[in-house]
Amino acid sequence: MARELSTIGVVGLGTMGAGIVEVFARNGLDVVAVEADPAGLERGKGHLEHSTGRAVARGKLSEAEQAELIGRVRFASSLEDLADCDLVVEAVPEQLNLKREIFGKLDSIVRADAILATNTSSLSVTEISVATHNPRRVVGLHFFNPAPVLKFVEVIRTVVTEDDVVDDVKALAARLGKMPVVVGDKAGFIANALLFGYLNHAVSMFESRYATREDIDAAMQLGCGLPMGPLALMDLIGLDTAYEILDTMYKQGRDRLHAPSPILKQMVTAGLKGRKSGQGFYKYA
Ligand code: CAA
Repeated sequence: MARELSTIGVVGLGTMGAGIVEVFARNGLDVVAVEADPAGLERGKGHLEHSTGRAVARGKLSEAEQAELIGRVRFASSLEDLADCDLVVEAVPEQLNLKREIFGKLDSIVRADAILATNTSSLSVTEISVATHNPRRVVGLHFFNPAPVLKFVEVIRTVVTEDDVVDDVKALAARLGKMPVVVGDKAGFIANALLFGYLNHAVSMFESRYATREDIDAAMQLGCGLPMGPLALMDLIGLDTAYEILDTMYKQGRDRLHAPSPILKQMVTAGLKGRKSGQGFYKYA
C-alpha cells in the first residue's frame, strides 16, 4: 500500500513552483516553500494570496478557507527548512548544474526515507538523481501550467527509481485530483515531446511574417478548438523556459523541429519573457 505523504517541500517559487505550492495547499497538505531569492520569495507569497483571493472573489473559496489554506504554507529561504518533509519537489529554472547542486544538498538534509522529485520538463532525471547518494529515491514529477488547473502529471521513472517511490507519488497525484502517467526518462517525456515542435513552428511562422500573431493564435484556438493559441501559450509557459526546453530537446535529438527559432533567444535576451515579465508575443497589464 502506498505511503501517505503529508509534508511537502517545494524548492523554487517561479511560475511553476508557486502553482505547485498552491496545488498541495489546496488539497490539505502542509507545505514548506523555499526560495533563496528574497524578491522571489515575496512574489511566491503574493502569488498564493492573489490566486486564492481570486477564488474567494469568484465564490469558490470562503475567506476562512483561504486563511486556512495559506496557513498550511510555511515560506522559507533555506533548504535546511526542508528537513522534515516526506517529499520535496524541486522547481528551479531548467539548468542541469543548478538542479544537481540542489539535489546534492537536499540529499544530506532530508530523512533517508524522504522522496526527492524534480519538476524538470526536459532535463535528464537520471543525471539529476546521480548528484545524490541514493538515486533510487529520485523521481520526476512534472506538472503542467497552470498547475492548479490542469489535471495531469507525468511521473518519470529512471532505470533505478524504486517501485515504492513511483507508487507513493502516483497515489499523491491522485489525491491532488491529477491523473498520473508513468513515463521513462526521455527529453520532453510525452506531452512536451509532442507540444514543443508545434509551438516552435508557430514562432518561426511569426518570425518569417508568414502570418500575424493574432491570426496564428486564432487558427489554432478558433479553427482547431484548443484552449489558447500557440503564441499566447508560449507567453504563459515563459519564453525563457520554452527556450531552455527546446534547446535541451534539440541537443538530445538533433531534429530541426526543436532547433529554437532565433527570435526566441532575442526576445528572452531583451527581457520579453511572456506574462511573467509583462510582455512576450503580447503585452500584459
Ligand atoms: N493559477 C490558478 N488558477 C488559474 C490560473 C493560474 N495561473 N489561470 C487560470 N486559473 C483558473 C481560474 O481561476 C478559473 O478557475 P475557476 O473555473 O475555478 O473559476 C479557471 O482556471 C479558468 O480560468 P479563466 O476562466 O480565467 O480562463 P480560461 O477558461 O480561458 O482558462 C487556461 C485559462 C486554464 C490557462 C486555459 O486557457 C488553458 O488550459 N490553456 C492551455 C494551457 C496549456 O496548454 N498548458 C500546458 C503548457 S505546457 C507545460 O506546462 C509543460 C511545461 O513543461 C512547460
